[in-house]
Amino acid sequence: MNILITGVAGFIGFHTSLSLLEQQKDKIIGIDNLNSYYNVKLKKDRLQILNKYKNFKFIKNDIQDKSLFNKLKKFKIDIIINLAAQAGVRYSLKDPYSYINSNILGQINLLEFAKKNKVRKFIYASSSSVYGGNRILPFSVKHRVDNPISLYAASKKSSELLAECYSHLFEIKCIGLRFFTVYGPWGRPDMATFIFTKKILEKKRIDIFNYGKMQRDFTYIDDIVDGIQGAIKLECYFKHKVYNLGNSHPEVLADFISLIEENLNLKAKKNYLPMQPGDVERTFADIKESKKDLKFFPKTTIIEGIPKFIDWYKDYYKFK
Ligand SMILES: NC(=O)c1ccc[n+]([C@@H]2O[C@H](COP(=O)([O-])OP(=O)(O)OC[C@H]3O[C@@H](n4cnc5c(N)ncnc54)[C@H](O)[C@@H]3O)[C@@H](O)[C@H]2O)c1
Repeated sequence: MNILITGVAGFIGFHTSLSLLEQQKDKIIGIDNLNSYYNVKLKKDRLQILNKYKNFKFIKNDIQDKSLFNKLKKFKIDIIINLAAQAGVRYSLKDPYSYINSNILGQINLLEFAKKNKVRKFIYASSSSVYGGNRILPFSVKHRVDNPISLYAASKKSSELLAECYSHLFEIKCIGLRFFTVYGPWGRPDMATFIFTKKILEKKRIDIFNYGKMQRDFTYIDDIVDGIQGAIKLECYFKHKVYNLGNSHPEVLADFISLIEENLNLKAKKNYLPMQPGDVERTFADIKESKKDLKFFPKTTIIEGIPKFIDWYKDYYKFK
């Protein structure tokens, strides 16, 4: 199959592509605009690994730019996996338009491409953030998600609505994946695991929001990749469906930090702070549907996952 993966130089796009390339079955056409939301070197280093595979073709482009789609026609794409997005909850207070442009305009451009080129399946990244302030736990795909509390969440919910509409009008089989706090090697520098590890190693103070009482359903990257592969394999018996991809085992932030400290053999200097606007207190995925359809059975606990991240971090940044 020819699989188009957007956001290919990003954390999840990189791991998804690498895993598919290692299986040597599919051709991967990867798109990324290599934006500077975080250190571009990390993105380029991920790409350098992917570029070693002969079945990988990288095109540097923005998914907002419609001329990209003329370049893509010749590849006869079977499946699109749209992972390109402006991620991050907190940054959406700073630069709201980047969310509208990448997450909404980008999604509609790719859906249009899928429509015109008879793409068989359209898989895209949504987020646990769409559950906003929902109080009923665990978060189920059957719950209403009409109350986003950040622009990031609103943009992801909008991307789900666009997929719903296009699947209905144009018979495109769509699968939305709501990822829950993904971590692991080659992870994102704006996320908790990365920030805490970096600052503790550099003996800097870490900010702990909601006084450490937040809970997150931390999900290891390899489990996420398994879930995406499940979506690739799924024989769609529907037009559009969304799934939760989360560990289904929420961790208290303070315990998560203690585990990082233990693994680094260092104590963190802590700065306790109240909740930040846009943040949700708790995330917890109900994965019944994902188990049934995607054969998604997350295996990695944070006890196994955290040391793997720390090993990668120390090796990549040459920390003794
Ligand atoms: N990592 C998580 O915990 C998490 C949780 C929920 C949802 N998600 C979603 O999963 C997807 C992948 O996230 P990630 O953690 O790999 O983020 P990431 O920032 O590492 O990867 C996104 C990639 O997309 C690229 N990109 C952004 N806008 C683009 C555009 N307009 N055109 C082309 N490329 C563009 C970026 O350069 C980046 O390399 C995103 O849609 C994100 O919103 C991630």
